[in-house]
Amino acid sequence: MNRILAIGANGSVGRHVVAALAEGGHDVRALVRSRATSVLPEGVEAVEGDLADPESLAAALGGGVDAVYLMWPGIPVQPRVVELIAEHAERVVYLSADVADLADDEPAVIFHQEIERLIRHSGLGWTFVRAIDFAGNMLGWADQVREGVVRWPYGQARRSLVHERDIADVAVRALTEDGHEGAKYVVTGPESIAHAELARIIGEELGTEVRWEELAPETARERLTAAWGHAAFVESRLRAWESFTREPERVTDTVERVLGRPPHGFRSWVRDHAADFR
Ligand SMILES: NC(=O)c1ccc[n+]([C@@H]2O[C@H](COP(=O)([O-])OP(=O)(O)OC[C@H]3O[C@@H](n4cnc5c(N)ncnc54)[C@H](OP(=O)(O)O)[C@@H]3O)[C@@H](O)[C@H]2O)c1
Repeated sequence: MNRILAIGANGSVGRHVVAALAEGGHDVRALVRSRATSVLPEGVEAVEGDLADPESLAAALGGGVDAVYLMWPGIPVQPRVVELIAEHAERVVYLSADVADLADDEPAVIFHQEIERLIRHSGLGWTFVRAIDFAGNMLGWADQVREGVVRWPYGQARRSLVHERDIADVAVRALTEDGHEGAKYVVTGPESIAHAELARIIGEELGTEVRWEELAPETARERLTAAWGHAAFVESRLRAWESFTREPERVTDTVERVLGRPPHGFRSWVRDHAADFR
């Protein structure tokens, strides 16, 4: 039996990682900032620690672990965390992003490349799970869906959003099986679907009409900057969506290859999250 530490165990991917590991009978330990506010599956040991304070990970890594599932939240990178993991574990599976292979100076790209670089030089066995945008990002439309109209730019941008459970299942294979070392798995949904069609599918699965209202990019820029407070991020999203109107976001066969089953489609993700839209 493997002992696995999950960092980001309450995250949108991490929660599926932990659940699948526990179901598979693995010895799972979860790093949490507060045991009091964490809800973890039965049998999962919660150990407190904070990535912003690397030495606080000592207890979670204590006694040794075979493998670590690592995600990095939106806080500055702490190289010492990777060093500590390398001192106590054999392998790490890092939740990265598909953009990590771009030659680009956008903050999200640099951030994931920096962590991947630290891991590659750490002496650990590693697997990078480079996810495309999560289907969960569409929960940002929930208020508009409730109003029956999604106002968003680039209705014809074709996206290959991935179900978080598929990302987690790929990560779990890499954590628990041999043969994934050095892999950079780009994990996507099964097909690319236009923004306007995603809105229609959400409505159809919820049994309610959801209209699409195309927002001009300039209007979207203003609204999203006000909502997200990060102009550079908004700009990079708008650029990416515009590009997906000309060339759809990529679709890979990673899930099929690694798991031997097709990825979950967007409809299935909506059904799993119907309550979040109501
Ligand atoms: N969203 C996308 O479309 C997308 C696409 C590709 C890659 N990614 C990457 O995926 C990662 C996010 O993964 P996710 O969505 O699964 O996680 P998430 O839901 O964004 O994050 C929540 C998790 O982060 C943990 N956390 C936050 N700050 C922490 C800290 N200082 N120390 C320790 N743990 C901390 C939380 O722990 P507590 O239990 O203590 O609260 C919780 O488990 C990011 O690196 C992002 O760039 C996202």
